[in-house]
Amino acid sequence: MVLASAFVAQTVYYGVPNAELVVPTLLSGLFKAIAWYFTSKAAQESSWCIAPVIATLAAIINAHLSRSSSEAIAVMGVLACLLAIAQAIGIIPRSSRGRWALWGFAAIPIGFSLYQAAQIRSLSSAAIDGRVHPVESIIEVAKIDFQRLTKRQSREFPQAVAEYKHRYGMEPPPGFEDWFKFAMDNQSPIIDDFNIIYTSIAPFLRLSGQDFTRITADTHRNPDADVWLCTFNGTSKDTSCNHPLRSFDRNTALLFNTLLQNLTRLIPDVSFLVNHLDEPRVLIPPSGGETGQYPFRPEDFTHRPTFDLLTKHCPRQNQQASTARDSPTTRAHHLLPFVRDITAAKDVCRNPSFAKQHGLFLSPISFHLVEGLVPILSTGAPSTMGDIIFPSPAYTVEEDFLYDAAHGMEWEKKRNNLYWAGSTTGGYAAEDAKWKDFHRQRFVALAQGRLGGYQYLRMHNGGLMNMVSGFLNRRLFDVDFTRVFMCAVRACRDEEDYFHAKRWADKDAGLGSRLVFDLDGNGISGRYYKFLASRSAVLKQTVFREWHDDRLVPWVHYIPVSMGMEELPELVLWLTSTKSGQTRAREIADQGREWYEQALRPVDRAVYVYRLLLELARLQDPERVASKG
Ligand SMILES: *[C@@H]1O[C@H](CO)[C@@H](O)[C@H](O)[C@H]1NC(C)=O
Ligand SMILES: *[C@@H]1O[C@H](CO)[C@@H](O)[C@H](O)[C@H]1NC(C)=O
Repeated sequence: MVLASAFVAQTVYYGVPNAELVVPTLLSGLFKAIAWYFTSKAAQESSWCIAPVIATLAAIINAHLSRSSSEAIAVMGVLACLLAIAQAIGIIPRSSRGRWALWGFAAIPIGFSLYQAAQIRSLSSAAIDGRVHPVESIIEVAKIDFQRLTKRQSREFPQAVAEYKHRYGMEPPPGFEDWFKFAMDNQSPIIDDFNIIYTSIAPFLRLSGQDFTRITADTHRNPDADVWLCTFNGTSKDTSCNHPLRSFDRNTALLFNTLLQNLTRLIPDVSFLVNHLDEPRVLIPPSGGETGQYPFRPEDFTHRPTFDLLTKHCPRQNQQASTARDSPTTRAHHLLPFVRDITAAKDVCRNPSFAKQHGLFLSPISFHLVEGLVPILSTGAPSTMGDIIFPSPAYTVEEDFLYDAAHGMEWEKKRNNLYWAGSTTGGYAAEDAKWKDFHRQRFVALAQGRLGGYQYLRMHNGGLMNMVSGFLNRRLFDVDFTRVFMCAVRACRDEEDYFHAKRWADKDAGLGSRLVFDLDGNGISGRYYKFLASRSAVLKQTVFREWHDDRLVPWVHYIPVSMGMEELPELVLWLTSTKSGQTRAREIADQGREWYEQALRPVDRAVYVYRLLLELARLQDPERVASKG
């Protein structure tokens, strides 16, 4: 009866809750109802002074149930509750017989804390420690991959040329020898592995140099294309950018000027188009087919689903393979989809589930697509898109994203949990409830224990098995939204209700946790390097390809997380609560930091951009004829 009326009262007051919110709503409604019942009873016998005390009590219990992120906070919650009860009893006149019954309230937080403690103990005591954990063997393989990567790089020029021809089936671009010397002089750990550049530029070999230049100029002039045209002056090493409508270039020219200031060698003048939006822009038709409509008309897919569009050129057999449920990250060998092959895990064609897992595919904040062979530089793009990839300005010239050693912390002093805080960027939440499927919202809901169906690995009869539990140890996850926006009015309110967004978080708070999560926003996440530098282990989830993909090795420098995140509860439990997991977490944190200092320096980005400019210069050479294919 009380329960029902509480629910009705809540519903009248707050509107119909979402299905997932029914239980918490019922519980908190129940406490409020009981609190009111006691308040009115008590007030009849004493005075209304009791009201605030009991209201406080109810609030404390409510807060305790919804969020006890650490042992200390749980204990404080119980203590606060006991204090409030004692105070209430003190106010009620001695003559009132029922007043001792108030101690009954204490049973709620105490019982809940004991239940939680028991769950946590049973989870961590059954966690799989040692070599049998499947991640251990994945890490061993990854270490060998990384050793191979560093060992195989050319150290002599003729070898670098041979390697280039072998990999990419053509001569290196003019100026390659100077580039090689620049890379060697600056101890670039990577000389040969620039597949991301090759993949970016290869489709444009189908255009002649003159067509390439003409398309570049036409696209720039088209205001709907909304791209900047930047020109690098090989004599002055200066880059200047302009846009047909905009005059404020936040950081594009600054990025190139910062990266290329130290070049002393001869580079030709080069012009290139740059996308200033977070989202990628280009869909290239497959070779052999049409090269796209010309002139290209940009189409606006803002707030619209894009998955079908972005997968329309996927090869057929891939689609069949994925319907056969042996997609790369699923349980071929193991019960949980730990990422083994990062390229396959990010391959949009092989992961049809992405359609309902990422804001970019569900409802991008802005999406101005150009279909055709149009060379536009973007900071990241999913596997099926043809943007030319360059290093995000966030990594080089945006203060907020740069690591400040003053905020660094020793591993031992860091909290043994996973941290993430941020806003609801990544998709536009319309009136429908699709926002629940956006990548950030799915992650936060999971990490806040709002979902259920959490999977853990267990030993059973000498083998591994999967256990499904409704329980997530919230103390291992310090995860919050700090801002709800990019949503329609009703969706904003629903999200606020659902997530209880925190008002503020220090942008460097993550450096205080041993594990930090990093995932896409509207585009790539600019915080990635700060975390890699911070001696915390980075758990990384993304659909975007980036310039560093050839050099960052998953499970060595960072911990990859699948888009579905089914493995995340087990992964975090293992990394925080077992000896072998903790050792691996620290190892990956250290290796990530070390590699950041060796391979993600500003000069490493300069080496990349320099090589990219040489390729672009060759593409726009007016003498170059179109290749067939
Ligand atoms: C490049 O810079 C040099 C030196 O500042 C200048 O003389 C030259 O005109 C510039 N080239 C172009 C194409 O603007
Ligand atoms: C350019 O040189 C300066 C001084 O040696 C150095 O601090 C800076 O990091 C260099 N920039 C790049 C992009 O290599």
